[in-house]
Amino acid sequence: MSTIDQLLFPESADSFSEALKHLFDDHSQLFILCDENTFNACFPVLAPLHPLLTEAEILVIEPGEVSKCLEVAQQLFEQLIESNADRQSLLINLGGGVVTDLGGWLASNYKRGIPFLNIPTSLLAMVDAAIGGKTGIDLGHHKNMIGTFAFAKCTLIYPPFLSSLPQTEWMSGSAELVKHALLDERASYDALLEQLPLHWPIPPALIHHSCAFKASVVATDPNDNGPRKMLNLGHTFGHALESWHMEMGTPVAHGIAVAAGLFIELELALQNQAALGEEVAQIQHDLVTHYNFAQWKWPAIEKLMPYIINDKKNDSIGIRCVIWQAFGKFELGALQSEDALTKSYEAAMMHLNNLKM
Ligand SMILES: NC(=O)c1ccc[n+]([C@@H]2O[C@H](COP(=O)([O-])OP(=O)(O)OC[C@H]3O[C@@H](n4cnc5c(N)ncnc54)[C@H](O)[C@@H]3O)[C@@H](O)[C@H]2O)c1
Repeated sequence: MSTIDQLLFPESADSFSEALKHLFDDHSQLFILCDENTFNACFPVLAPLHPLLTEAEILVIEPGEVSKCLEVAQQLFEQLIESNADRQSLLINLGGGVVTDLGGWLASNYKRGIPFLNIPTSLLAMVDAAIGGKTGIDLGHHKNMIGTFAFAKCTLIYPPFLSSLPQTEWMSGSAELVKHALLDERASYDALLEQLPLHWPIPPALIHHSCAFKASVVATDPNDNGPRKMLNLGHTFGHALESWHMEMGTPVAHGIAVAAGLFIELELALQNQAALGEEVAQIQHDLVTHYNFAQWKWPAIEKLMPYIINDKKNDSIGIRCVIWQAFGKFELGALQSEDALTKSYEAAMMHLNNLKM
């Protein structure tokens, strides 16, 4: 298996077909994992691109985070065994981040690992989840608790799949583009802002730029021991909000929780560097305008703290966060007290209350 991302950006159905010809060499059987939505909306786009795709066995899961769990994984393992999948089989993950996370995890464990392709169909999966080799499933309400590092044989980014993507998923995916732009340079952020709110059709260059940014960060640190941790910006509060909503039975899309996390964690940036005031205020204004945070119901910080304390990014010394310092500049693994996190959350809530008045 590869140890870095092999990304392809087919510009047309013909070049996509051509790429598949080479990728299907040497495989005994093809399996396609999709959810009900991507089976209906995306499989009909993919199937005509290669004759072997119509002979592939299709594994369909229920859409959404509920499927990223051990029970669904067990059923899928059993289906692979019943169909005599061997180590030369190829699993094609056709879907959003749930399908690419779950499918990558299945493939990296089945018979100690079989090759897989990622064909992301949501914006979030194209620019983020399908790149970087992190696979995983949730355990109860704890996100991504069981996982592996396993890179796809190839990830094919084909924006026409996005033509059927629901508007909430465009909002969710755009949060990861915003995060990449904050970690990249001001020009990336300005170019993205011009295009918000994102919808179909989207300039392919915007997607390519964000994918290339993520892949370049991953390439410097595939196992997430150093600079790759910058990609956790917004995820301390983002994951806590996502997990809390999951537990409450009011799930929010991953990217939307990350956007909220970015909004709150920019207050941590301010606590560390008051001089950032104007710039942070402008970015927070952009986020509030785009995501309408002032209309949200926010939990008390006490409800979020247990998730924050349990976060995978922490160590025995304490809670670790990424602190934004400027475009392209950040502090990794900054130790944060519960008090500092509480203050940043309260400041963010006050900011939103002022907007309501
Ligand atoms: N591995 C990583 O590095 C990484 C990074 C970020 C997020 N993630 C994970 O990704 C998941 C979120 O991904 P997501 O936002 O893509 O969620 P998702 O896979 O649930 O997709 C969102 C919704 O959009 C639908 N959908 C996807 N593509 C479609 C299309 N083209 N047309 C119509 N409907 C379509 C899906 O059926 C689903 O209902 C989370 O589980 C998160 O933890 C992983």
